[in-house]
Amino acid sequence: MGDFPRAIGPVLCVVGARPNYMKMAPIIRAFAARTELPRPVLVHTGQHYDASMNDRLFADLALPLPDINLEVGSASHAVQTAEIMRRFEPVLDAQQPACVLVVGDVNSTLACSLVAAKKQVPVVHVEAGLRSFDRAMPEEINRVLTDQIADVLYTTERTAHENLAREGIPVERIHFVGNVMIDSLLANRSRAPSPAEALRRAGAPSAPAESASGYGVVTLHRPSNVDRAETLSQALGILREVSERLPLVCALHPRTQQNIARFGLGHLLRTERLVVLPPLGYLDMLGLMAGARFVLTDSGGMQEETTALGVPCLTMRENTERPITAEQGTNTIVGRNRGLILALVEETLRTGGKRGRVPELWDGHAAERIAAHLAGWLAERKVSAGA
Ligand code: UD1
Repeated sequence: MGDFPRAIGPVLCVVGARPNYMKMAPIIRAFAARTELPRPVLVHTGQHYDASMNDRLFADLALPLPDINLEVGSASHAVQTAEIMRRFEPVLDAQQPACVLVVGDVNSTLACSLVAAKKQVPVVHVEAGLRSFDRAMPEEINRVLTDQIADVLYTTERTAHENLAREGIPVERIHFVGNVMIDSLLANRSRAPSPAEALRRAGAPSAPAESASGYGVVTLHRPSNVDRAETLSQALGILREVSERLPLVCALHPRTQQNIARFGLGHLLRTERLVVLPPLGYLDMLGLMAGARFVLTDSGGMQEETTALGVPCLTMRENTERPITAEQGTNTIVGRNRGLILALVEETLRTGGKRGRVPELWDGHAAERIAAHLAGWLAERKVSAGA
């Protein structure tokens, strides 16, 4: 790492897609509270743009509106990544930031990191070092490459340090700070509505939340589950069977909804015991998860949120990049193994399901630790660059 002569401009904070917003909100707040840090400038790439994937979450999280929106929208991975890079470069030139801060593992994370690194602007990666070891996941490529070019890497769990060491990342770049997504959860937990109210707000019948047996919550959007007719129909078939044991509330990503229509699979969801909704706001989802008997999902973030809430989570994937949720938390990796899922649902209904504990430093203060560390790091850069 050389000296960075730009340790005086703003911190450019990048978001692009839904899971970025809950990570960025506490960071922006913590930065604003530290006067010795350069001001944060929020850049939205526009990767997610539907109101349900975007505007609603900004409002729920009290995330300030972006200072700059690149409005890239949907496209193939290559075109989306390239377009973000093309549109981000002039922003970087104009802003001359002290550093670019990216979160998570979406295409926007990698695209903006790459532009910054090539211009020798320091890259700060929050949620570094997570690995599923599954290169078929686009997010895994984004994680590995972002970490290779990041100058400061903040981690959520200690396994990340082993992963990064194996990939040759110098140890002095890596800092264990905890989980900013859990900062958001703890800050907003008391603001979340009751499950019945969350359903009413979504225009859905509140019956599942009011039934004595309770309900389960479902989300599905990973390409490995929803992009092929065969896997999607298998996954929906499992949901239908599970719903015979317990009513399910399914909040479906636009990608999943589009594919259900495209493959003609809507009939699999046509039962009173499956309430199908569009993506929910952050607070409504939090309220629904907190009151659920279990969550069935392929989301990365919900594996962590359920662990923090103490709600059993069955993850419909073959692996997880967040192993601490399975080792210490309430998460079980189940793939699309119908027999295993039905057995675990039975067991969860009988016993309350897997219990866990909240991992180290998932305490609501990760963003403050990041702000404190980054303030020191940038001050040192400034001194060594003679600014
Ligand atoms: C992205 C992230 C994934 C994250 C997910 C959360 C990458 C590689 N993946 O996946 O890690 O878990 O966000 O939601 O960055 N679409 C809409 N409206 C929108 C956004 C997307 O209709 O506002 C549809 C479009 O058909 C689009 C498809 O969803 O083609 C995929 O969107 P994209 O942002 O490319 O990836 P996600 O699947 O959302």
